[in-house]
Amino acid sequence: MLYMINENKTWLESAWKKTEKKMKKVAVRSRGKIPYTAANGVHNNMAESCIDWWTNGFWSGLMWLMYSETHDDDFKETAVNGEKLLDKAFEKYELLHHDVGFMWHLSAGANYRLTGDLKARNKNLFAASILASRYNINASYIRAWNGRDVEGWSIIDCMMNIPLLYWASKELNDDNLKNIATAHADMALRDHIRDDGSVNHIVEHDVTTGNVVQIHGGQGYSKNSCWSRGAAWAVYGTILSYIHTQKQEYLDAAIKTADYFIENSKKTQYKVLVDFRQPSEPVYYDSTAGVCAACGLLEIAKYVPEDQAKNYTEAAINLLKATDENFCDYDENTDALVLCGTERYPLENMNGVHIPIIYGDFFYVEALLKLKGNDFLIW
Ligand code: GLY
Repeated sequence: MLYMINENKTWLESAWKKTEKKMKKVAVRSRGKIPYTAANGVHNNMAESCIDWWTNGFWSGLMWLMYSETHDDDFKETAVNGEKLLDKAFEKYELLHHDVGFMWHLSAGANYRLTGDLKARNKNLFAASILASRYNINASYIRAWNGRDVEGWSIIDCMMNIPLLYWASKELNDDNLKNIATAHADMALRDHIRDDGSVNHIVEHDVTTGNVVQIHGGQGYSKNSCWSRGAAWAVYGTILSYIHTQKQEYLDAAIKTADYFIENSKKTQYKVLVDFRQPSEPVYYDSTAGVCAACGLLEIAKYVPEDQAKNYTEAAINLLKATDENFCDYDENTDALVLCGTERYPLENMNGVHIPIIYGDFFYVEALLKLKGNDFLIW
């Protein structure tokens, strides 16, 4: 049971009420789309512009989260619709990448787990086999993207894709899939997570030995800085690996990355910067990092002694309150809920800076539900 003082309970009740009211409207209004962002208050539609885009499972996932709490069929209908649109992505095998986890585990995977739909189960198993096929057997990592030039690249984000393999391994009673997931996670602990709990976004491996060839700067300010969403992927991804395996090293890594995340978020009153080591000016935030990390912290709180659990829960609530106060748009006539997400630190251009991004809404809702005691773990 998560520890919460009365003041936080009141805040949670009010934040959830506004969220549920808005989501109910948005679910109906954006049915028929797979949104990524919104402009002038209106969701865009990735089903029309980029069906293989890595975020295309979050919309259905968000709808399934809402359904798991409310049992309102409007959410279910929109979730199933988003999953159907996503079927088209299976037609372009060579465009798919390691983010098949994000794409199908949150859409078809959640559908199967909540409704028992066997077609959805089958899609998620296909997605798992695609992810497993990206494993480099000599070098022990799952490659992120396609193309000879990036064959040796793993990215920290993949820690959020491997829950698909844990699920499929259980479903098929096949340890091989779980072994691929843990081999990748072990690599991430060694090569992505730094001693201080910050993370390398992109690691290039020797494709025959797995040895680190070099670190590449990814979506953060530089290769030695710390991209906050990557740090959040590490916090949540490592605790998910712990939940699925009970390997102590993963819990230790979750605590290490969580402590780093909390220390650095405190410095800006829990409004999370795009990169914890970015220059002091100009100031760029990424709301999505804060809400994703909050989900991870709330899971960590379930597996540590009470005094530590209290700290992780409080830090998660601080991140969510900062989101609520600074970044949320509860207006029922606009489509996006969490504003001020940022795709990457803007070194070259200002595209994708301080915009609503669908996974901001997803993780905000997921975190509120965790605080409410909803125990559907979509990962
Ligand atoms: N997985 C890509 C990103 O976090 O932007």
